[in-house]
Amino acid sequence: MTFKLPNVKLRELLLNDAEDRYQWCLDKEVTKHLNMPEKYPPFSKEETLNWIEMCIDKTNGYEQKAILDESGKHIGWVDLKNIDKLNKHAELGIAIGDKNYWGKGYGLAAMKEMLEFGFSQLGLNKIWLRVEVDNEKAIKSYERMGYVEEGILRQDRLRKGVFVDRLRMSILKDEYINKKEGMAV
Ligand SMILES: CC(C)(COP(=O)(O)OP(=O)(O)OC[C@H]1O[C@@H](n2cnc3c(N)ncnc32)[C@H](O)[C@@H]1OP(=O)(O)O)[C@@H](O)C(=O)NCCC(=O)NCCS
Repeated sequence: MTFKLPNVKLRELLLNDAEDRYQWCLDKEVTKHLNMPEKYPPFSKEETLNWIEMCIDKTNGYEQKAILDESGKHIGWVDLKNIDKLNKHAELGIAIGDKNYWGKGYGLAAMKEMLEFGFSQLGLNKIWLRVEVDNEKAIKSYERMGYVEEGILRQDRLRKGVFVDRLRMSILKDEYINKKEGMAV
């Protein structure tokens, strides 16, 4: 099935994003599959602001960007981390924090923008990710984007006291280029 992807934009984070980010992190459905501390709230407002400051100042090794919908509304974040310049790969992370936007192609569209940034601006050759085996929604989205499974990372996440396996998936630059030609934007 071919969809016309929503027209999302990525922009650099702003200090003002902290409030939305804090609210999203209070939502256990949003954070269930994210690597977050086992406390509630997982991050205080101050910790959220500190994190955003580090992203803006690029002192934490993350290329983290805000996801905006067609009208400029802030709906989530996407990032590249563990950037290995020598071997030209990095790890992707994504969350659509505003659940009204789930299941409408926004995650896919934001991921595509980040892949474009990683492959063409950062000169990467592979973008990989780790996803919990029971995060079906995310796995489906990654497969739709053209990610393939590299293997299982056994008991890779300690979630509420239980070790959960994670899949490692990746997409190569050439695969992305082929895929994007067939994607309606
Ligand atoms: C994982 C996550 C980013 C996926 O985002 P999403 O926007 O819901 O996912 P997609 O962009 O792939 O949406 C595709 C769905 O929208 C539907 N859709 C509707 N309009 C569409 C369009 N124009 N284009 C593409 N898909 C569209 C598809 O049919 C599909 O539905 P289906 O899964 O029922 O088949 C999001 O669920 C999320 O933030 N989850 C919480 C955090 C998380 O788990 N992050 C990942 C950690 S590894």
